[in-house]
Amino acid sequence: MKLSQRAISISPSATLSISDKAKELKAQGQPVLSFSAGEPDFGSPQAACQAAIEAIERGETHYTPNSGIGELKKAVAGYYKKRFGLEYSAGEILVTSGLKTMLYETVQMLAGPGDEVLVFTPAWVSYVEQIKLADGRAVPVDTSGNGFSPSLTEIDKSITGRTRGMIINTPCNPTGAVYSAKTLRMLADVAVKYDLWIIFDEVYERLTYGGARHVNILQAAPEIRDRVIIANGVSKTYSMTGWRIGYALGPSEAIKKIDGLQSHLTSNASSIAQWAAAAAINEAEDEVERNRAAFERRRDLICGLLSEIKPLKFASPDGAFYIFIDIRGTGLPDDMEFCRRLLEEKYVALVPGAAFSAPGYVRMSYACSESDLKDGAASIKEFVEAQGQ
Ligand SMILES: Cc1ncc(COP(=O)(O)O)c(C=O)c1O
Repeated sequence: MKLSQRAISISPSATLSISDKAKELKAQGQPVLSFSAGEPDFGSPQAACQAAIEAIERGETHYTPNSGIGELKKAVAGYYKKRFGLEYSAGEILVTSGLKTMLYETVQMLAGPGDEVLVFTPAWVSYVEQIKLADGRAVPVDTSGNGFSPSLTEIDKSITGRTRGMIINTPCNPTGAVYSAKTLRMLADVAVKYDLWIIFDEVYERLTYGGARHVNILQAAPEIRDRVIIANGVSKTYSMTGWRIGYALGPSEAIKKIDGLQSHLTSNASSIAQWAAAAAINEAEDEVERNRAAFERRRDLICGLLSEIKPLKFASPDGAFYIFIDIRGTGLPDDMEFCRRLLEEKYVALVPGAAFSAPGYVRMSYACSESDLKDGAASIKEFVEAQGQ
């Protein structure tokens, strides 16, 4: 079969392929510990499950408005008003089948052939591929020399006459960095200076630890509202990855266009899942805080355990649920080899940094039990120490 150039150029999600390989080994009976997937291990909120059951019983099993049910948009608008003091009307909100779909649709609507989009690396796997799918060019802006936070010096090197926008992700997957209000102000100034749009992905906004505080870019720079599309969803905050509900907030003109694209792609997100998401947003605050506190304990635990493995270097993450580890001191040739051998020899799955445009690092998710973290860290220690012998 003759495949399109698009099919040839796309790389499948490395995080999903590692977790698939880990599942395969597990199915063969191997004692695999997987720290590769990006999903909380807690159950979805009781209120969400109950709302889904009630939606089915009421017969809410048909198409909904393409852009989402009014009840969910109202919940999202209320949440943004309460949490960030931001006002969005129903026409400025679009509900999507997971945040990944929302980002895909938005990139399709904002980036065209040859358009350059700044991506702060290390970056989540799908940004670069989604920009490629729009025939745009993802321009990596390295943050590793600045504590994984964007610096103006690096940005200045990357701007050209073709730069159209930037994707910001805070708290960041894979680094766990939480951008300060000052950094966000600087990014807003860059956007104004070069007339850029911003996709602001804050899907981990409820997961910050210690003294770190998440800031929405419009709190730091309210005047850029017209150039920002906020991306969020229920996957990480409410442990609802399988329900596939994401949403966008932005100027109505842009939201209308993205809505139009969605009308030819997925149509509305699942009717039942939308009711569940509305209930989670309105009623599951206690669970959000309980889960966040559990992540913080796990973060402290895994940082303590990994700090005993001398060749590994990492900074304690301020947010999300990943730890991004520099493995260049281990003597292994690269991160791909590190992950392949660790999985085959110790049955421990991590994701190579190359998947996040950051070779030389690996990502470990701590969205798992404390006993798995202890066992996993012990296996990693044995593996790394064996390389030095
Ligand atoms: C930074 C980031 N954005 C977006 C997504 C997609 O979220 P969803 O599960 O809602 O598609 C993820 C999921 O891993 C993510 O890490």
